[in-house]
Amino acid sequence: MDPMLTIAIRAARAAGDVIARSLGRVDPRKITAKSRNDFVSEVDRQAESEIIYILQRAYPSHGILAEETGRQGRHSEDYLWVIDPLDGTTNFLHGFPQFAVSIGLLYRGVPEAGVIYDPLRQELFTAKRGSGATLENRRIRVTNSATLQGALLGTGFPFKDQRFVDPYLGMLKDLIRDTAGIRRAGSAALDLAYVAAGRLDGFWEMGLQPWDMAAGILMIREAGGMVTDLTGGERVMETGYVLAANPKLHQAMRDAIAPHLSEALRREMAGP
Ligand code: IPD
Ligand code: CA
Ligand code: CA
Repeated sequence: MDPMLTIAIRAARAAGDVIARSLGRVDPRKITAKSRNDFVSEVDRQAESEIIYILQRAYPSHGILAEETGRQGRHSEDYLWVIDPLDGTTNFLHGFPQFAVSIGLLYRGVPEAGVIYDPLRQELFTAKRGSGATLENRRIRVTNSATLQGALLGTGFPFKDQRFVDPYLGMLKDLIRDTAGIRRAGSAALDLAYVAAGRLDGFWEMGLQPWDMAAGILMIREAGGMVTDLTGGERVMETGYVLAANPKLHQAMRDAIAPHLSEALRREMAGP
């Protein structure tokens, strides 16, 4: 096993233990809203410090970008760990059993390794660039469903940025009509892992953050899938717009989404 992946797994399991132990025991006075509909609890913070401690002990010179504490280390570092200590905080706070730890490693900005750990099911998803993706040490692959018909898609609702609501509802309406079903399970990292593992045929969301996706993007690519923004562009981590599926279904999803993208959204994805 790759040494950096081994450390990431150790960190993800340690954070997962913190999370599983704390389920149903969060002190409501210690839950704060970072912004509208965006909550953080002491568990998110504890899980994050556990991960950072383990990663920094093994790799003191690597940079860190973590959801709750931000950027640490020199910006010139080649290696950057991108961490979501608890993806699916709202689910966790409600006792809805769908959340995960996500740890991605970038080398000069390119995804190098990734771990997504579901502490309740104790399912460990991993990926290493060039070596494939696994669930519990078994290779995983995206599905080969080529059409929307019969497909099961995952998504996330745009609950923070109101600009996305109308275009999103247009996409949703068309995709509800054309697919077998759509799930909004509440943990983008697990949604991406599920696409890699063939449990979902595809996934799309608007307004994600790098820590939601750093591990999942690599996992899907290593499982034979495609991950782009909603127009097929490469700036996924920069913009937070994500569309993931096997290559054929990816095209079908893009065609369904395209009519709902305003010029402003397209410009944002295209970048400067
Ligand atoms: C959230 C979850 C959710 C997605 C949101 C994310 P958090 O992460 O991944 O599924 O729809 O966009 O912010 O805040 O629970 O780490
Ligand atoms: Ca998240
Ligand atoms: Ca989080």
